[in-house]
Amino acid sequence: GSTDKVLLHFVNRDGEKFTVTAKEGESLLEVVMNQNLSIDGFGACEGALACSTCHLIFEEDAFRQLGPTSDEELDMLDLAFGLTDTSRLGCQVHVKKWMNGLTVHVPVEVSDLRKELEAEKQS
Ligand code: FES
Repeated sequence: GSTDKVLLHFVNRDGEKFTVTAKEGESLLEVVMNQNLSIDGFGACEGALACSTCHLIFEEDAFRQLGPTSDEELDMLDLAFGLTDTSRLGCQVHVKKWMNGLTVHVPVEVSDLRKELEAEKQS
């Protein structure tokens, strides 16, 4: 029903804001993909915990409510550019009811190593 709908705001690198209605239980990566949000390079490994391009920055209060981060996620986060104290990987965070009205920020810098190597080849 409509009660499991959660309103989320994403702020993209350029400051553009997307407001979407997400379903409880979806990962934030799934939200971005299902809603076709144009966040460049987001979720390159499709949730396999292998790229860190789904890096998102949370507000402090929200971050505290997210619960523990797995060791695997921490390892990937360590490789992310622009890591903050309230960073998580979007593919590992699932939408909960309390998130209604939450704003998450896409970090300005991304580090998909594969993409950078590609760009080098092309230049
Ligand atoms: Fe690659 Fe989350 S989508 S680590």
